[in-house]
Amino acid sequence: MNTVAIIQARMGSTRLPGKVLSDLAGSPVLEWVVRAARCIPGVDKVVVATTDLADDDKIAQWCEKNLTPCHRGAIDDVLSRYHLAASNENADFVMRLTGDCPLLDPHICGQVLTLLKRSKTDYCSNIDPTTWPDGLDCEAFTMASLSIAHAEATRLSDREHVTPFLRNNRHRFSVESLTSSINDLTQERWTLDTEKDFQFLTAVAQHLPADRAPAFTEVLAVLDAHPNLREINNSQKRNEGFAKSILEEASPTISTFSRSNALLERALKSIPLGSQTFSKSHIQYPQGQAPMFLTHGQGGRVWDVDGNEYVDMVGGLLPIVLGYRDSDVDAAIRKQLCRGISFSLATELEADLAERLIDIIPCAEAVRFGKNGSDATSAAIRLARAFTKRDRVAVCGYHGWQDWYIGTTTRHLGVPDAVRSLSHSVSFNDLDAVERLLNQHKNEFAAFILEPMNLTEPKENFLKDLKALLHDHNTLLIFDEVITGFRYALGGAQSLFGVTPDLAAFGKAMGNGMPISAIVGNAEIMNVMNDIFFSGTFGGEALSLAASIAVIDKMQREPVIQHLWDMGQTLADEVTHLTEKHGLSEVINFQGKPPWKIASISPAGGARSEAIKTLLQSEMLKRGVLFLGTHNICYAHNNQDMHHILQAYNGAFSVLTQELATGELETRLPFPAVESVFKVR
Ligand SMILES: Cc1ncc(COP(=O)(O)O)c(C=O)c1O
Repeated sequence: MNTVAIIQARMGSTRLPGKVLSDLAGSPVLEWVVRAARCIPGVDKVVVATTDLADDDKIAQWCEKNLTPCHRGAIDDVLSRYHLAASNENADFVMRLTGDCPLLDPHICGQVLTLLKRSKTDYCSNIDPTTWPDGLDCEAFTMASLSIAHAEATRLSDREHVTPFLRNNRHRFSVESLTSSINDLTQERWTLDTEKDFQFLTAVAQHLPADRAPAFTEVLAVLDAHPNLREINNSQKRNEGFAKSILEEASPTISTFSRSNALLERALKSIPLGSQTFSKSHIQYPQGQAPMFLTHGQGGRVWDVDGNEYVDMVGGLLPIVLGYRDSDVDAAIRKQLCRGISFSLATELEADLAERLIDIIPCAEAVRFGKNGSDATSAAIRLARAFTKRDRVAVCGYHGWQDWYIGTTTRHLGVPDAVRSLSHSVSFNDLDAVERLLNQHKNEFAAFILEPMNLTEPKENFLKDLKALLHDHNTLLIFDEVITGFRYALGGAQSLFGVTPDLAAFGKAMGNGMPISAIVGNAEIMNVMNDIFFSGTFGGEALSLAASIAVIDKMQREPVIQHLWDMGQTLADEVTHLTEKHGLSEVINFQGKPPWKIASISPAGGARSEAIKTLLQSEMLKRGVLFLGTHNICYAHNNQDMHHILQAYNGAFSVLTQELATGELETRLPFPAVESVFKVR
């Protein structure tokens, strides 16, 4: 089996022309890479792939002089260049290296190769997820996979960057990753893209052995001994080239949902609904014309089982606040995984997280953990009933699947009337209604639980006056911050609005996708936890606790919340411009705070709002935006993602305007309009 390492190199770098042949401590950069590549265990041959451009004759000449085979091919279509080189060399396995990584570590590359071969996968790398320093990148794949990518990849970024097609079509290619178990390496920048990088590498190279490829630990040792060296180039971003080509290319159009549809048919045979969550199920998407199953996510994007890529505006229904595969959270999970997941006793992580919540959430004097938001809201209700020795509760918003809440909605099948009769639904901002209810059932209300905000802004002093009114009646105020927590502000809506409830429920974003929730509140009330029953096998599950600690630490360290607001506001403003441009201002409005906005759609042109929303959703999906009618912003959403979403809106709004003009939008819809799962009574 022939394994060929192919180093891509060209003179025409935009930021640092001629970089691959520039002299680094006495040898051209390319020589550093070739020298390292020749030491990779398992590599039979090292070759260079460059372009046909006259400028790259210099590379060909260097290769000839240094007895390194050189293959020349298309300028921008690097994928075809790779395929050509690999075919000419009769490769069975290919290792992709780049000529701008002079500090490449042969032993890491060897591990990637071994992993590929041993695990019999199609593609293996050390770049996905990002856990190693920038500049140690290597990827290995089978010739068969490279041939498929070459034959089928059409996107500019797939052709220019060779391997995204393999990484993104996970339903077709098996993918393995060699991750680093040493944390905090991702900030290291050892690649050569700019003049500053060159200065950095030159300075580091003075301390490295002259006669052999250095191990990455040797480079780290140099940097740890001379930490100021990092300052030379550490202000630059990773993977700028890839981000740029994504921005430049036309948005991907979604070609097929055939695997999604087939998998749905299969899932429905064993899983009622075909999903675990209504809002993730087929009944919430245009029938047959939507992705139903995802394979993976990265940052603000996800990929479906048909290989389609989407900017994700759903974020797993809001837990994904940092982004998919956030490097800090994933590192914390991996670290904990090495110790264990669930234990027979508590771990210190529980106090570590509880203390953090007490620090940042105004009402939190004590904390208990759960898994779902419903655990936390239900615990709050039971606690309030136990503390006040009263049974009635008032609800406002959505609070989960448990009897005491869902019994107040139209989807109350299975909830006993006796339970339903104790829960009362109240409209947001309606203080009079709350007062009427409290007076109607004097001394019977344990608590009022509400989302402190979703669509509508609380009226001036509403939350403050509500608290005073409830306390006059010895009734507790509970904020359901399952969505607003770790999104509106680190301390939730209560810190944003300056009103401290008695108890509060948190969930979703606190684990960036790991299942964890918390009930927090006044210590005297929380102490009744000792007497009620709130207890579960997985309440102290350690991976989620570790993840949540990493989320909170990152939010305190980095401008996460600010980003959610800024990006959300920019998106909302731009969408408003687009609705105006397309004459849809009366039909589509986004409401809510910038980190989480919800489309409010009015009936128009004889069509119901459900039909209009379904068409909009379908047109956004076609244009590569996973969309449920909300803007669920995450920290990883970037300008490329926003650009993509706005392009999609522009196209979708055009179609919407045309369809509305026919006056028959609803009858022309090629699928049934999506109906809501339930209505709040
Ligand atoms: C405001 C609010 N409260 C509670 C819940 C219930 O959370 P979970 O689905 O995690 O049980 C949700 C879920 O969407 C929610 O949005």
